[in-house]
Amino acid sequence: MSFSNFKENLAERYANFKARMQERADRKIARKTNGEAKEPGRFKKWLSRVGAFAKRRPSAFAGIIIAIIVVLLFVTYEALHLTSTPQFCGQCHVETEVGPGAEFHTWSKNVHSFAEVGCIDCHGRPGFFGYMRAKIGGMYDLYGEIVYSKEHKMEILTKGATDLEYAKNLVPNDYCLICHSDDANKSIRDNTVMSFFGVEMRKVDGVKNPEFRQSNGLLDIYNDEMPNISFSHDNHVNGLGLSCLDCHSGVAHGGEFKNRPKMETCFACHDERRAQDPNIAAPANDDCAACHTSVVALHEGTLLLEEGAEPTPPSMMVDMGVYGAENCSSCHADAFDKPTAATCGTNCHGEMDYGFMFDEIRNEFDTVKAPLDALNTELYKALNKMTAEQKAQFNQFKEYYDALAYDKSKGIHNNELYRGIAEKATAIGTELANGLGIPVPAGEQN
Ligand code: HEC
Ligand code: HEC
Ligand code: HEC
Ligand code: HEC
Ligand code: HEC
Ligand code: HEC
Ligand code: HEC
Repeated sequence: MSFSNFKENLAERYANFKARMQERADRKIARKTNGEAKEPGRFKKWLSRVGAFAKRRPSAFAGIIIAIIVVLLFVTYEALHLTSTPQFCGQCHVETEVGPGAEFHTWSKNVHSFAEVGCIDCHGRPGFFGYMRAKIGGMYDLYGEIVYSKEHKMEILTKGATDLEYAKNLVPNDYCLICHSDDANKSIRDNTVMSFFGVEMRKVDGVKNPEFRQSNGLLDIYNDEMPNISFSHDNHVNGLGLSCLDCHSGVAHGGEFKNRPKMETCFACHDERRAQDPNIAAPANDDCAACHTSVVALHEGTLLLEEGAEPTPPSMMVDMGVYGAENCSSCHADAFDKPTAATCGTNCHGEMDYGFMFDEIRNEFDTVKAPLDALNTELYKALNKMTAEQKAQFNQFKEYYDALAYDKSKGIHNNELYRGIAEKATAIGTELANGLGIPVPAGEQN
């Protein structure tokens, strides 16, 4: 159809429309002057037919109404869901270098994504109203995307990524605690509308502890011993009023698979507080053993010791009397000066060059651990296919695997013990991988 045709067509339609309207107005005037009742309009006719149907078949009518409501709710629900997936957020948070704008990229490398903890599980107060508020905040995101320049958007995102005080408000403690503590989970669930009619809009709203925590192999941060560092979350968070981000900043967006607190963070604050009050109950910086419990356990040969089994202390060091919790300083001059083959040579082994032993132990450790790293990754990828039983097996695997991963000395602290731990991890992980039909990454041993 050409444009002039279209214009003619439109003019004709308009003329028809005007004529119909005129007719209607005339009829109305006629009715009024003659005192006639209004002839029912089309909509009214339709309504009265529906009314008749409702009287004739009340249950069918109720069924249809319910079906319509369900369809409408479903459409809303689906729309809410579609706009809540990390992939949706990733449409605008698109950068691929770790930093502001790359939140989707960093999240997808982080353990939380493997456990299907999505963006709005952390970016929104737990519960139904928290979810709806986050959705409204999302409308503002959309507005921002359209209205703001890219520079302005990046400015806002940079604030979240670099200003700790700002970030603490963006993601307050409660958002994390609902998953990582049992007591907080209970108190949040007791005081919050978690869902309407049991419809959960996101993962966090269905999280019940201890079940969730245990099925994911997580500890209760307030009531369990931490596995690597002797550390009280209760004293630091509840006692001193710290935010999770004081130590776990970048927990989902640091670019790592797992985000570990840094020793500098601990020392910076302990030093500052000690300067104000020398008697605070924080360990001295050179009291390595007070914090590094897993290294102490390695040194004493008791890490992951099974019931009734004998400890396996590092035999060479036992011979030289430098093992045990109080002997860290025989190799570690201070917390940040890492011992090397050279320092061990001059400190302990005199003129003899034992550097080759260091290298041998570390090379062996790498050879044993590399296939376990690959296995760990493959198992995490299959996490959501696992049955409850397989998940329990996975959690057991993780306990052994993590113990190896914590030992950044690469076996030097106790090369006898780490081999046993690696064997255990390999056995459990291989059985699980076979059960899941995942090819087991090849290693040099079994
Ligand atoms: C249409 C593009 C778009 C989508 C989709 C989008 N965002 Fe954003 N987001 C932005 C823009 C633009 C900003 C910065 C301006 C602002 O605060 O609105 C932003 C800012 C943010 C901030 C920082 C807010 C602040 O106050 O510092 C967070 C957190 C965030 N988005 C999370 C999400 C999550 C979670 C999703 C998915 C549910 C998502 N975004 C989806 C564009 C988007
Ligand atoms: C485990 C919780 C968690 C998950 C899951 C998570 N975030 Fe974050 N997010 C945080 C925390 C905490 C911050 C505060 C800054 C920091 O420490 O990284 C943050 C900060 C942000 C910011 C502010 C800018 C910045 O880079 O810091 C944006 C935007 C954002 N997140 C978007 C997302 C998107 C999009 C997803 C999903 C793809 C997501 N987040 C998943 C915890 C999470
Ligand atoms: C919806 C529940 C949920 C929320 C919310 C959540 N997490 Fe997690 N977190 C998990 C799960 C599940 C894992 C992964 C466990 C695994 O498979 O290893 C995890 C892992 C972690 C780990 C790594 C544990 C390790 O073994 O090293 C840290 C640290 C952590 N979360 C801190 C946080 C912080 C801080 C926040 C808030 C910004 C937060 N989490 C929010 C569920 C959650
Ligand atoms: C003062 C520092 C500090 C603060 C504040 C802090 N943490 Fe931690 N957190 C640690 C340290 C240190 C570890 C590591 C312990 C280890 O590896 O043995 C840890 C470990 C964890 C783990 C891993 C537990 C596991 O299953 O292995 C989670 C989850 C966690 N913290 C969550 C949180 C949450 C949630 C908050 C806020 C309520 C928080 N942390 C506040 C220092 C802190
Ligand atoms: C913002 C300040 C601050 C930060 C950060 C901090 N601490 Fe502390 N910590 C303290 C203070 C203050 C005390 C003494 C508490 C008292 O006197 O009751 C303490 C005590 C301790 C203690 C002995 C008592 C206890 O709670 O078990 C340990 C162990 C400890 N801190 C470990 C750590 C580790 C590990 C980190 C880093 C991951 C860390 N702290 C980070 C302030 C901090
Ligand atoms: C207040 C508690 C605390 C004390 C005391 C402490 N550390 Fe740490 N250290 C930590 C935490 C927390 C980490 C980070 C978690 C991790 O990497 O296991 C850490 C990490 C380390 C690392 C690994 C750093 C890296 O980047 O790989 C070394 C090495 C280390 N500590 C050595 C020591 C030595 C040696 C001493 C004693 C002279 C000591 N630490 C005393 C808490 C402490
Ligand atoms: C025989 C010498 C020796 C002794 C004794 C020793 N270490 Fe180490 N330690 C090392 C070497 C070597 C490294 C590796 C340094 C590097 O990363 O290059 C190391 C690394 C570490 C690390 C960082 C890796 C990790 O596991 O997080 C910590 C922490 C650590 N030692 C703590 C301790 C503690 C605590 C003690 C006392 C219980 C101790 N060490 C005793 C030699 C020793």
